[in-house]
Amino acid sequence: MLRGSKVGLRARHEDDIPVLQAELHNDVVNYSRSDDQPWRPVAPGAKDSQSVVDDDKNQAHVRFSVVELDGGALLGFANLWGIDNHNRSAHIGLGLLPSCRGKGYGTDVVAVLCHYGFVVRGLHRLQVETLSDNAAMLGAAERNGFVREGVLRSSAWVMGEFMDEVLLGLLVQDWKPDSKPRSKQYSKG
Ligand SMILES: CC(C)(COP(=O)(O)OP(=O)(O)OC[C@H]1O[C@@H](n2cnc3c(N)ncnc32)[C@H](O)[C@@H]1OP(=O)(O)O)[C@@H](O)C(=O)NCCC(=O)NCCS
Repeated sequence: MLRGSKVGLRARHEDDIPVLQAELHNDVVNYSRSDDQPWRPVAPGAKDSQSVVDDDKNQAHVRFSVVELDGGALLGFANLWGIDNHNRSAHIGLGLLPSCRGKGYGTDVVAVLCHYGFVVRGLHRLQVETLSDNAAMLGAAERNGFVREGVLRSSAWVMGEFMDEVLLGLLVQDWKPDSKPRSKQYSKG
């Protein structure tokens, strides 16, 4: 497991799937704001992106479940996706259960994804795209040193309207693991 100061990133367990589907996938508005694919219903037991436990076939996409370090409760999911080993870049994505938002977990998840991308995977650049009104995601990324590189105008169709997305990037040489307001040690468990 990868550890931040508040969260751990571990493999997806079968037990996580019904919770992620009920609390994240089944929220049509949140899903539509967070994913570039249209929402579709997923039957219990069916395969969708959040129900993949072990995705050995897709080496470009690493899926984690996010858990609380203290007690191990499931908090959400985190992904490193679009891993490009030639250009040494990847995208990050994350989603927390509604009751777990706004408590600093997201900022810590981004920090651990940076550690995984830069240190474990040896990447050079990480990026994130998010809706321009997603203050929490923008904050979690910027708190970790991501900078706004551009606005993708009307790039996302969200529940009946086109919305702008912000593209943020972080280069390894600009990454300061301690840029957050607290110091933190990572270790593998
Ligand atoms: C986006 C998300 C992962 C952020 O995680 P989080 O734990 O809620 O965010 P944090 O508590 O770490 O806060 C990050 C920053 O945003 C601010 N923030 C948090 N919630 C906010 C809100 N609702 N409105 C405005 N600012 C907010 C925090 O104050 C913090 O800023 P600071 O470091 O300057 O104090 C989480 O809110 C979530 O899962 N949202 C739904 C799914 C989603 O949007 N995923 C991203 C798709 S690209």
